[in-house]
Formats: sequence, structure tokens, C-alpha cells
Amino acid sequence: MGANQNSYTIVSNERLTPRFWHLCVDAESIADSVQPGQFIHIKVREGMEPFFRRPFSVYRALNHIEVLYEVVGKGTEILSQKKKGDALDVLGPLGTPFTIPDENIENVVMVGGGIGVAPFMMLSDLLKAKEYKMLLLYGGRSKDHVYDMKELAKNGCDIHIATNDGSHGVKGFVSELFSEIPPDSNKTRIYTCGPKPMMAAVQDFARTHNLKGEASCEEVLACGLGACLGCVTKTEQGYKTVCYDGPVFDLKDIVF
Ligand SMILES: Cc1cc2nc3c(=O)[nH]c(=O)nc-3n(C[C@H](O)[C@H](O)[C@H](O)COP(=O)(O)OP(=O)(O)OC[C@H]3O[C@@H](n4cnc5c(N)ncnc54)[C@H](O)[C@@H]3O)c2cc1C
Ligand code: FES
Repeated sequence: MGANQNSYTIVSNERLTPRFWHLCVDAESIADSVQPGQFIHIKVREGMEPFFRRPFSVYRALNHIEVLYEVVGKGTEILSQKKKGDALDVLGPLGTPFTIPDENIENVVMVGGGIGVAPFMMLSDLLKAKEYKMLLLYGGRSKDHVYDMKELAKNGCDIHIATNDGSHGVKGFVSELFSEIPPDSNKTRIYTCGPKPMMAAVQDFARTHNLKGEASCEEVLACGLGACLGCVTKTEQGYKTVCYDGPVFDLKDIVF
């Protein structure tokens, strides 16, 4: 099923921690068709300001659509003020999803930085039935930048954390945790989402060990539909749009 634009009802919109918010929207038609790694494009307010929609990975799609987000600017500030029962204009699902690994793969390693952890919840919801060994290597600036992914742990995912200031988990970048990655190219698949330097380090590790993987990229989006070319990113095959050709790309193809 393709993308739909519709007005949906907000089920809840709560501040979970000083940094992280959780939005739940009664968008059953999107929940039925969305795949892990895809995103929704939200018009946070009617009118001209802000003009463009704001993109968010789908965090969960059980019956409703759930989004985990941070307030970083005007659009997310407006979104955070929405209340249960408000209408929300949502376009989606959009973009490319993560590829589900084949049956030879035993280890699914997710490497996330900050809010980049969001699409891994839905990925783990799908993969938990398939008995992969799931591992999340999760980094952030401090303990406040790392969301408690206990629902991911409930899905059987082993979680390792690194923070730059050492306030939670290992002190340093998430690359301090790469020794946890089983380096068997026939059995391990990597997924990454977060800041570019972190994903570049994941790409280096994957190249060194001949591991396959995928990366979910972020750029500032406008149309979200591949039409305006406002979100291009460099790949080994030339410039590609993050919103339409991505956001999920083959890890080896991205030029960081
Ligand atoms: C495919 C995709 C999935 C995303 N998923 C999530 C998610 O699950 N949760 C979440 O909190 N955020 C997610 N984002 C980022 C989110 O879209 C932006 O934080 C949001 O659009 C900012 O809007 P704003 O009006 O609040 O901030 P603005 O006022 O537009 O910008 C505030 C600051 O954030 C920077 N910024 C804005 N958008 C981006 C971006 N896409 N990448 C990097 N920096 C940006 C701006 O350069 C500026 O410095 C995603 C982005 C993409 C492209
Ligand atoms: S935002 Fe218009 S092409 Fe991606």
C-alpha cells in the first residue's frame, strides 16, 4: 500500500523524560502497512508556519502509530503541545524500510546514537518472533541523552550503553562497544541510525570485518516525496534523496 495523507486523532502525547517525548496517533491504516525504518511526515500546524512537514521514524506500529521524539526547534515544540483528542495531519508511510535478514543470519546488531534509536523498536517487534540474537549498542552524550529502551529489552534484545561523559554505561563513544559485535560475516547483520560520525565508524567496522548492514540517514526534509531534491546525500551511486531513495541505505554505499 502507498502513502496516505490523512487527519488522525492523537491518542496520547507525553513527555517521558526531560529530553524524550512519546506520541501515539490513531492511524490504523498506516500501522497496517508501515515497515520498520519507514517514517511519517507530520504537519505540525495548519497554515504557513512552519511551512514544511516534519519527518519522524515510526517507533512502534502495534494498533496505533507511535513516535519517540526530541524537541529541538519550532516544529517539535509545536508538536509537543498537542493534546489527546487533537487532530494531526500525517502523511505516510514514506521511505525505504530495513531489509529483514535471511535465515542464515543469527545476530542482529543495532547501533544507535541518541534519538537514532527510535526505528529499532519496531524492527525488534518484527524480529523477536524469528529468534535472532538481538544486540543494541547505544550511545549518547550523557545519561539524559539515552532513552531507557526497556521495551526493546523485553523483546529479548541485549543492550549495551556508552555515554561521552560516562554518566551511564561505558565512558566514550559507542565505538567502545564494537567488540560486542560478532564479526562473522555469514551470521551477523548490522543496522545503524544516528549521527553521521557514528555511522561512519560503524561503516569502517563493517568494512574491516566484511559485514553487511544498513544505515538510516537523516537530512532536513521538505517535500518528503522525492520531488524537490532538497534532501540529497552522497552515495557510491551518486546523489540520492534521503526521503525517497532512503532513509535506509546499504551501509557500504553511503559516502559520509
Ligand atoms: C527520516 C527521518 C526520521 C526521523 N526520525 C526522528 C525520530 O524518530 N525522532 C526525532 O526526534 N527526530 C527524528 N527526525 C528528526 C526530526 O525530523 C527533526 O528533529 C525535526 O524535523 C526538527 O524540526 P523542528 O522544527 O523542531 O526543528 P528545526 O527548527 O527545523 O531545526 C532545529 C535544529 O535541528 C536541526 N535539524 C532539523 N531537522 C534535522 C534532521 N532531519 N537531521 C538533523 N538535524 C536536523 C536543524 O538543523 C536545527 O539545527 C527524523 C528525521 C528524518 C529525516
Ligand atoms: S525532501 Fe523533497 S526530495 Fe526529499
